[in-house]
Amino acid sequence: MDEDEFRKQFMKKSVFKLSSSLDQSYVPEKLYCRDEDIKTLIYNFRRIIEESDQPSINCLMTGKGGVGKTVTARYFGKNLKTISLERDVNLFIEYYNCINFNSKSKIVRELLAKYTHGSGRGFSDDEGIKLILSQLIRERSYMLLIIDEIFRLKPDEILALLDIAETFGHQNAKLSLIIISRTHDWMIVENERILSRLNQKIELKPYNFDEAKQILDYRSELAFKENVIDDDLLEMIAEIVSEHQNMRHGIEILRKSGLYCDKEGLERFTPEIVREASNEVYPTFRGDVIDLLKDQEHLALYGIVRSLMNTDESYTLVDEAYEEYQVICENYSIDPHVKMSFRKYVRHLDELKIITSKTVRIEEAQRGRHKEIRLLDIPAVKLAELLEGLFEKKFMN
Ligand SMILES: Nc1ncnc2c1ncn2[C@@H]1O[C@H](COP(=O)(O)OP(=O)(O)OP(=O)(O)O)[C@@H](O)[C@H]1O
Ligand SMILES: [Mg+2]
Repeated sequence: MDEDEFRKQFMKKSVFKLSSSLDQSYVPEKLYCRDEDIKTLIYNFRRIIEESDQPSINCLMTGKGGVGKTVTARYFGKNLKTISLERDVNLFIEYYNCINFNSKSKIVRELLAKYTHGSGRGFSDDEGIKLILSQLIRERSYMLLIIDEIFRLKPDEILALLDIAETFGHQNAKLSLIIISRTHDWMIVENERILSRLNQKIELKPYNFDEAKQILDYRSELAFKENVIDDDLLEMIAEIVSEHQNMRHGIEILRKSGLYCDKEGLERFTPEIVREASNEVYPTFRGDVIDLLKDQEHLALYGIVRSLMNTDESYTLVDEAYEEYQVICENYSIDPHVKMSFRKYVRHLDELKIITSKTVRIEEAQRGRHKEIRLLDIPAVKLAELLEGLFEKKFMN
């Protein structure tokens, strides 16, 4: 491509009005179909704004993947902040996702760094929390922590967070929590003691057809120019959303169809484009988790993917994947890590549920057993495409 051609691509018309409104982290101005859940949150947390002794409150939000837990919590946080400003209440709202903050210590350190400007090194978690709480009291401020994917913390860490008011005294704990988890994951960590620390449990139900349609109407209006998408196509997508009980699927279809139109120079969606985009979406696959991986984990995952593409089996083995990984590292001029580290990355990918691995006894293998690695939510070829796109940005400069 030469510069003229490059420029020409920018002159092309786009179907998007605001493509960033379809990003995962985007919080829309209006949130439809979650009125009851938002009201429950308001009912629980308004005391922080209105009462002078500002109690400490813990709420749990659960629900299936893609039902809107994260967006609802962030929407609530954003608007509560506005109200607090209007009422002269000094409220901080912090959002952490345990995919990257996978221990209580990491969260406490981050808070320390941000609010007390210390590194937090050399402090125990409890000492750290105490410092943060004293700072809040000194400043007459209050903190609402939103902790997403909380099941990645150990149950005793979750309990310790929910227990802050008990541990440090209610009058000292100017801090409340909204914790979020998929219902299924939450089952694993839930126990009597944790339950007894919750003021409220909110279970978000999947959207039905009409709700999905209303949300898609609004989201497509934000994202696209007029007449890009017909009503009957929105109905088609709403059908898919309510069938899979996953709103993320619908948003992804909108995004992919839009990108396709732009690339092909088309001005509007057709049923074929939507159908094709829908086939490309893997509703349980979490692209956001992949984005957060470290370089070496990306490379290890690509090794697994490549070795899966080379075999007729539905699984691959650590040794095979490691070989591919070494070749890949060489291609990108990166020093490969030793096999023991590679095994660690595989374990981490397993913990994140990107892959599943299980040890199987077999007669032929050297030590009588081997570890079978499978992909969970997406075919190897598709994941390969995604990783290659990512590597292009990451390693090719
Ligand atoms: N009521 C709504 N209005 C507008 N957009 C919504 C609504 N509910 C969900 N969405 C959109 O659907 C997508 C999925 O929602 P979200 O990420 O909040 O789901 P989740 O329940 O947190 O899923 P997961 O368990 O996989 O993290 C997001 O793009 C979000 O913006
Ligand atoms: Mg979420």
